[in-house]
Amino acid sequence: MDYSDLQDSLAGSKLEALLAFCDSNYLDQLTHGDFPRWRQHLSKFPAINVADYDFSETVRFGHADGIDAETSDILKQLLLDMLPWRKGPFEVLGIFIDSEWRSNLKWARVNNQIASLAGKKVLDVGCGNGYYGFRMLAHEPEQVIGIDPHLAYVAQFWALKQFVPHLPLAVLPCSLEQVTEPLRGFDTVFSMGVIYHRRSPIDHLKQCYQCLVPGGQLVLETLYVDGPAGYSLIPAKKYARMSNVWFIPSIGTLEQWLFRCGFSNIEVIDESMTTSDEQRKTAWMPFESFEDAIDKTEPTKTIEGSPAPKRVVILATSS
Ligand SMILES: C[S@@+](CC[C@H](N)C(=O)[O-])C[C@H]1O[C@@H](n2cnc3c(N)ncnc32)[C@H](O)[C@@H]1O
Repeated sequence: MDYSDLQDSLAGSKLEALLAFCDSNYLDQLTHGDFPRWRQHLSKFPAINVADYDFSETVRFGHADGIDAETSDILKQLLLDMLPWRKGPFEVLGIFIDSEWRSNLKWARVNNQIASLAGKKVLDVGCGNGYYGFRMLAHEPEQVIGIDPHLAYVAQFWALKQFVPHLPLAVLPCSLEQVTEPLRGFDTVFSMGVIYHRRSPIDHLKQCYQCLVPGGQLVLETLYVDGPAGYSLIPAKKYARMSNVWFIPSIGTLEQWLFRCGFSNIEVIDESMTTSDEQRKTAWMPFESFEDAIDKTEPTKTIEGSPAPKRVVILATSS
């Protein structure tokens, strides 16, 4: 987990407050989520820098011929030890990580419709293992910073990033709520797949706003339900097997929330239904997945009887 490039770029900038989350004292006191064990695990990876990478569709680092068979077996096992791989796909020196989500499909719904990231500072809130951050690098941004409190995903990111240490992408192990200072320093903020996990979705949008420069762009991607403006589904207990889903708003409700938080130019750019083509069990995520969350006799419903997952992407501008 080498944060030195990021630390250099944050020092003296509007984003300086983020230095707190890559400080060695901060990292050392993160003892939950098996983080000390994951950090030790990272030190077992073979030290290989790859010059050849490709971040279109499958995020690929090097080729199979860049590694001998014995080291490849060791590397594969080290990566498998980090199960579950939820976001991807990745290919590491010929090893294909077939993640639960084909995240390339979500990125295709977003990529060509957002403001250019070229030369920009970008924040990816709830970035998971950083799949989208790697994809964002194709835009040649100045810096991409992901944040995520789930430390096993942060460790997955560093397991991959070590192959391309010089690229301007880092993931910090923290939540958006920990970023208490209004940074007003990112040109684009992504919040994808996060807001329905928040007990206070309006505070989440306000916090995203506070991270953006005036005129910056929020890319909000979330589950939604059909219904009038003002309506939101509040699952009685679980939604699609998940117990950490609090609000699933209608699109009109999302637009009202964004407006009330000070955003303008609110634009829906995509609506889709999740399918088993996009989310499924694989060797790299062998646990329950989409098919176990959907009613087998009535596929328009989840197993709890709620509407099956639909997702929307909305763009909005801060002032
Ligand atoms: C459903 S996943 C979405 C991952 C990815 N952004 C995507 O769209 O595929 C939700 C992610 O948000 C993270 N998360 C949850 N609460 C968060 C918070 N308060 N701040 C930052 N990330 C959060 C979770 O740890 C998880 O990695």
